[in-house]
Amino acid sequence: MKIKENETKTIRQPIVTVAGHVDHGKTTLLDSIRGTCVAAKEAGAITQKISFTLVPAEHIQEKCRALLDKYNIKLEIPGFLFIDTPGHAAFTNLRKRGGALADLAVLVIDINEGIMEQTRESIEVLRANKVPFIVALNKVDRIIGWRKLSEDMVVNLESQANHTKKEFDDKFFKIMNALNALGFNSDIFYRISDFTKQIALVPCSGKTCEGLSELVVMLSGLAQKFLKGKLTIGREAKGTILEIKKEKGINMIEAILYDGTLEKGSEILIGGFNEVIRTKIRAIFEAMPFGSGFKPVDKVHAAAGLRLQLPALEQEIIPGMPFSDSISIKTEKELKKEITESINIESEGIIAKAESLGSLEALIGLLNNNGIKVSKAGVGNITRQDIISALTNLETMPLNAAIVAFNVDAEKGAGDERIKIIKSDVIYHIIEELVKWRKERQVELDRKNIENLALPCKIKILRNCCFRQSKPAIFGVKVEAGTLKQGTILMNEKGEEIDRVKTIQSENKSIEKATRGAEVAISLPEITFGRQVREDEILYSAINEDEFLKLKENKKYLSTDEISVLQEIANIKRKEKPGWGI
Ligand code: GTP
Ligand code: MG
Repeated sequence: MKIKENETKTIRQPIVTVAGHVDHGKTTLLDSIRGTCVAAKEAGAITQKISFTLVPAEHIQEKCRALLDKYNIKLEIPGFLFIDTPGHAAFTNLRKRGGALADLAVLVIDINEGIMEQTRESIEVLRANKVPFIVALNKVDRIIGWRKLSEDMVVNLESQANHTKKEFDDKFFKIMNALNALGFNSDIFYRISDFTKQIALVPCSGKTCEGLSELVVMLSGLAQKFLKGKLTIGREAKGTILEIKKEKGINMIEAILYDGTLEKGSEILIGGFNEVIRTKIRAIFEAMPFGSGFKPVDKVHAAAGLRLQLPALEQEIIPGMPFSDSISIKTEKELKKEITESINIESEGIIAKAESLGSLEALIGLLNNNGIKVSKAGVGNITRQDIISALTNLETMPLNAAIVAFNVDAEKGAGDERIKIIKSDVIYHIIEELVKWRKERQVELDRKNIENLALPCKIKILRNCCFRQSKPAIFGVKVEAGTLKQGTILMNEKGEEIDRVKTIQSENKSIEKATRGAEVAISLPEITFGRQVREDEILYSAINEDEFLKLKENKKYLSTDEISVLQEIANIKRKEKPGWGI
């Protein structure tokens, strides 16, 4: 459909996000799509670091007519609005009420590197949000011997030398198989007959620009198949805040309008974590075609990349917040619900921090998928308050005494050695590290629990070593096996309980425990040496049934020495009470 200057727009451009692993070439790809378009700079436009690339339909029609015809694709949209975001993390900012902000996506994979962590992460986010996507197999020019022989990718693929072709095939099939393993059926773009069943793989190069027309045409095919009827512009202006940028001392709020028409001077509601902010738009700047800058406007139709000036609100505004020009209680409720529902907070769990609401949502979603609950979440750096909250978990839920930080840092002074802090810009790293830490912590906790129990121990009373006969009796013993602890109740070989060890002394110093081989003096308050106990006698710790079961359960934390003593103790006890056994 051709959109004329004054015609009212009824269908908006699909919003296309460019996602993928760091350095796989997202920005270069968009730069090249822009570059090939030779855009004339709009008068009055402010040239900025570009994150929006608006490509009008006329341009695609003109440049890609032959390809559109070849693949029988009709261009029924007014163009595409591409969003490039620094790194992969901001990609997760792209959210709107009820799902993902992106209508479509280009997943960029460096064909030479294949699927990397952030590729996988992007795939999971796309899958979770049901965003249709195509894959750009970028940097084909790096394949050894690759030559760009024409503007047509099919011709280029067919006319490479044999060894180059083989290398391409190896890399191509490796990625195709990996996608398959992740549950996606894919194929080379020119063989795709149904976009709903297969994902198109488009070899390309952001450097030589080959394959870029094919990429845009495949996106058009995807749009035609998936977006019919979904791009009609509604009455309510709806958008999402992407970033807060400071330029020349002025705070600019970068946002995307995905529905309706927004006007300068009108009031909007912005949904926040705890409250809904009401404010007036002071100025609107609209992103111009081909990334040629932003131009001040009075009115803007979706879809559009925007910069907004709002009076003195920069402090409260967080990337990922939704906004609307409908000032109603219903919208207010919706905006509130939007945030509370998308972020799953439970009564017990760890603390999660991220740089935007969208990335927080993605982080919590993936944590939840891995069985990890979150009890507190927030946007921004880790604060002292977060540490204090985490400390409350220390006693009762030690495995939740952790804070995960996705793309954010800890504020100065916000730290505590008892709290595990995991920071990364890859969600999978965070999850892996947390799982590992929890496992190790569990082992420590189990061993600690065991140490509170009476440990199995066997001692022998030494000859000529009685220092006092009674009240208390003090005499020398040798730890034959296991661990002798203060407070241990001793029994003899018949299983008769003798007394509780009041103190243990080694070289005139009180000690809490003595291990195998140690010779120490012990004091027993209730007995008389020579009567209940005598020289050369063997004594054991008198472990009760409860403790025995607990020790048995946690056998993996006992030494072989401790296990064999436990066995001996069980044998003695079994004489009285069958059922004891390891
Ligand atoms: P982040 O925004 O940091 O995630 O990276 P990105 O995915 O936007 O990658 P970017 O476009 O910045 O490219 C990374 C590097 O790869 C740069 O040095 C580019 O020049 C190079 N590069 C990108 N595309 C190509 C390509 O098709 N061929 C070759 N040879 N180099 C490329
Ligand atoms: Mg980039």
